[in-house]
Amino acid sequence: MCECCGGESAVRMVLLGAPGAGKGTQASAMQQRWGLVHVASGDLLRDNVKNDTELGRKAKPYMEAGELVPDDLILDMMEERLARPDAQSGFVLDGFPRTLAQAEALDARLETMGQRLDAVIYLRVSEEEILRRLSGRLICPQCHAVYHADTMPPKRPGVCDRCGTALVQRSDEDPEVVRKRLQVYEEQTAPLVEYYRSRGLLHEVDGAIGVDRVLAKIASILEAAAKRVGAREPQ
Ligand code: AP5
Repeated sequence: MCECCGGESAVRMVLLGAPGAGKGTQASAMQQRWGLVHVASGDLLRDNVKNDTELGRKAKPYMEAGELVPDDLILDMMEERLARPDAQSGFVLDGFPRTLAQAEALDARLETMGQRLDAVIYLRVSEEEILRRLSGRLICPQCHAVYHADTMPPKRPGVCDRCGTALVQRSDEDPEVVRKRLQVYEEQTAPLVEYYRSRGLLHEVDGAIGVDRVLAKIASILEAAAKRVGAREPQ
């Protein structure tokens, strides 16, 4: 039984929202509290860059410029990740899909497996709040935990609470690059809000409230979705 919503199996969900909306923070909390599998395309790409893989070398210039990595590279990477055993009974997708082509490819993949998404959570946050958040964000390059220098500081300055690794700032937090990422989000990713709304999967959540309150709202959405699925299943 799923620990977050009480459904028969773990959920398959997407977290959608602008850079800095809190997707990684919420997905990580869901993994910690409920054991859901957190799949973050940005973390996978950053690991590839750190390990100097062929994918990392191809993706790096796009990431540093605040542009999207081409769909074919992302789709191969996500296909490989979602085929791993831990993702078979559910996942939280963070940063993927990000284009209509990626959303359609995800739908097609799930359909061939006889699966579907249970919910898409759209975290809504103002641009002013996003700029404030991204200017103070610190991340753990080892376990991917996310902090904020002022509002969510680690217990020991500069050190990850979970694994003790030295925290770093991301290389795409330069104000020019952040502006580019926000522009790219509006042009290429925001249309997914309507894509998922028209499929009856979209749930909007105010992402500007505290982390725990956002998580509680997501839990109640997933609980309601699990009840709807239960009601549809033959007895
Ligand atoms: P990615 O790593 O996915 O970055 P992003 O989508 O721009 O999102 P962020 O990680 O910046 O923000 P977030 O929403 O996770 O916020 P967070 O929880 O950290 O992508 C990076 C790059 O990789 C892209 O630009 C692209 O080049 C490439 N890429 C990745 N996926 C791709 C794809 N599918 N297709 C093509 N290219 C792809 O929170 C931010 C800060 O706010 C933190 O400091 C946190 O502590 C704080 N915070 C969070 N929630 C709250 C709250 N409720 N209250 C107060 N503070 C909060």
